[in-house]
Amino acid sequence: MNRTEILQRMRAARPIIAPSMLKCDFGNLAHEVERLTAAKAKVLHWDVMDGHFVPNLSYGPMVIEKVRPLTDMVFDAHLMISDPDHYLDEYLKAGCDVISFHLEAVPQPTALLRRIREAGRVAGLVLNPKTPLSDVAPFVGEIDLLLLMSVQAGFGGQSFIPASVERLRQARQMISDDTILSVDGGIGLKTIAACAQAGTDLFVVGSAIFDQSDYAVAVEELTRLAS
Ligand code: DX5
Ligand code: ZN
Repeated sequence: MNRTEILQRMRAARPIIAPSMLKCDFGNLAHEVERLTAAKAKVLHWDVMDGHFVPNLSYGPMVIEKVRPLTDMVFDAHLMISDPDHYLDEYLKAGCDVISFHLEAVPQPTALLRRIREAGRVAGLVLNPKTPLSDVAPFVGEIDLLLLMSVQAGFGGQSFIPASVERLRQARQMISDDTILSVDGGIGLKTIAACAQAGTDLFVVGSAIFDQSDYAVAVEELTRLAS
């Protein structure tokens, strides 16, 4: 798929519930992907952590590459790493469709955003909760996706930061309708509706899916509340 096709698929799938591959059963990864496919997830969110930009280490492109042939879900890579420019080609090769990196790691992101788009993929910027929205204003014309963290990046299972709803509402006003607005962290049955009302398109969900025995019921409930 090229960038236009990926964006068309994502926009058509709104509201998107994107399971985050952090609290999944890594001992049965192929089976987890089958379960998520059966649960009708359309986008898979890969939480890449380098143990440097965030105080946690998850996985790299090798794991994503191995899962790529198992599903045609959109691969949405959230790079919580210090030097995304250095590693970009590996994530492109691994088959990531969306590549988002942190503004805190790359304060001048234009060149990297353009490199991602020129490679035919969707380019996203991520902001941690304490980073002012004004910091992203100069770059809204360079992004296809804006991800606002509703917890401090680094760990699943944290509590949703309530101020995130107002930030999502403000961010919605700053970006074009075509730009995908995503939220990540503490999204569940109690928090998703407010985020949806604020104009969010994509909801990254870890615990609220993987802590449930039936992924399909969790995805269906979350989709209903986000609609
Ligand atoms: C934080 C991670 C988590 C994860 C979602 O860096 O990005 O937010 O995706 O985890 P839950 O849904 O359990 O908060
Ligand atoms: Zn994430």
